This record gives sequence, C-alpha cells and structure tokens, in this order.
Amino acid sequence: MGDYELSNLLILGAGGHGKVVADAAMATGSWSGIAFLDSNKDLKEVLGFPVVGDIESYTFFLERFPAAFVAIGHNKTRLLWLEKLKQAGFQIPTIIHPASTISRFSSIGSGSIVMAGVVVNAATTIGEGCILNTSSSIDHDCIIERGVHLSPGVNVSGTVSIKSYTWLGVGAKVSNNVTIGSNVTVAAGAVVINNVSDHVMVAGVPAKIKKDFGDER
Ligand SMILES: CC(C)(COP(=O)(O)OP(=O)(O)OC[C@H]1O[C@@H](n2cnc3c(N)ncnc32)[C@H](O)[C@@H]1OP(=O)(O)O)[C@@H](O)C(=O)NCCC(=O)NCCS
Repeated sequence: MGDYELSNLLILGAGGHGKVVADAAMATGSWSGIAFLDSNKDLKEVLGFPVVGDIESYTFFLERFPAAFVAIGHNKTRLLWLEKLKQAGFQIPTIIHPASTISRFSSIGSGSIVMAGVVVNAATTIGEGCILNTSSSIDHDCIIERGVHLSPGVNVSGTVSIKSYTWLGVGAKVSNNVTIGSNVTVAAGAVVINNVSDHVMVAGVPAKIKKDFGDER
C-alpha cells in the first residue's frame, strides 16, 4: 500500500483549483496529507500528493478518507458532487486559509473554501460549496447562497445578496444593497450597481445585461 494511506483529506479535482485547495487545506494544519481523485488517468501526482483514482470511484475511498472536498470550478457541477459525497457519508469540511480574516459574527457553510487574503465581515452568511477566491472581500450583512464563486479580487459591499450558483469574475465589484440573482455570470472587472435578475451575464461599468441564458445552464 502506498504513502497515500497516511493522507486524510480526499480532494475531487486535481486541476489548478485543486492545487490551491490542497495548499489551503495543508496551511490549516488540520490534515496530514492529501489524496486527489481526477478523471485524467495520466495524472499520477500533483504538488507531491498522489492522484489515487478516478472521480467516479469516490465511494471506494470512504473508509480510508472520511473527509472529502470538491475542487471543481463550475458551480453546479461542484454542488452536484458535494451532494454525492454527503449522501455517501463523507465529512465535508469548510477550509479557511489561516491568512484570511473572518468575522466571528459570520458563518460559512461546509464544502466552502476561503483562500488567502480573503476578508469576510460581520453578520454575513456564506452558504455551502462556495469559493471565496484569493483576496476577495465580502462586507457586513451579506447573504451569499450555495455554490457561489467569487473570483480573485472581487469586492462585495455591505447588505448584498447573491443567489445560488452565481459566478463573479476576477476584480468585479458590487455596490451596497444590491441583489444578484441565481446562475448569473458577472464578467471580469464589472461594477454592479443595480439588482441583477436570474440566469444572465452582465458586464461593464456600470454592469449591464449582455446575455440571457434562460435557465438551461
Ligand atoms: C464573462 C465571460 C465569462 C465571457 O462570457 P461569454 O458569454 O463568453 O461572453 P462573450 O465573450 O461572448 O462576450 C459577450 C459580450 O460581453 C462583453 N464582455 C465579455 N467580458 C467582458 C468584460 N470582462 N468586460 C466588459 N465586457 C465584456 C463582450 O465584449 C461582448 O460584448 P458585445 O456583445 O457588446 O460585443 C468572460 O469575459 C469573463 O469575464 N470571464 C471571467 C474570467 C475570470 O474571472 N476568471 C477567474 C477564474 S478564478
């Protein structure tokens, strides 16, 4: 049996996001090692940690790795796998990089990751399976629903609501008291100053609707 038996966090997805998740997980000091699952059969090792199997074989690893985490960027896909892991009986941690600043008066759901440099302010609630990427910030009294991804450098002001599966591109900014709907894409660098409806892509300063996806995504 290989060294990976000493690992105790199983990460689904060994791509770029998986690397940063693994790095943050190890920085917490909560795990002695990592094992990845990935659909790329040629991938044997990432950051010195073993890729032990295909993502579809997750149930096989439950006994050896009681805690598991999904490192897949696409929001709906990530939440789909999160549900599968929960149903199989895995523990789903919340990973918080020690170089982030999280208010004691906030809450962050399981399966969510907080990268280095993030600030979450008081009375904010973050749902499960969210990605708060490098140096993003979320101010007071926000409600961020499940499966939301804030890309690096996103700034969300106070009393903002962001519905499920929405993705904010790198450097986007959201003004205070705004609601952004479900399944929305906010383009890189956009400044959102008005409410945004569900299933659209907005871009620009100020952000305007560029595409309407319907609800097929
Ligand atoms: C929004 C995004 C996903 C592109 O979506 P898309 O559906 O492929 O959009 P298109 O490229 O077809 O562009 C549609 C329109 O939006 C505009 N647009 C796209 N991205 C834009 C941006 N960031 N700022 C301003 N306008 C933008 C295009 O110019 C185009 O405008 P037009 O119709 O007037 O010509 C992409 O531009 C983006 O911003 N990605 C974010 C990447 C990122 O943050 N990565 C971090 C990962 S951690």
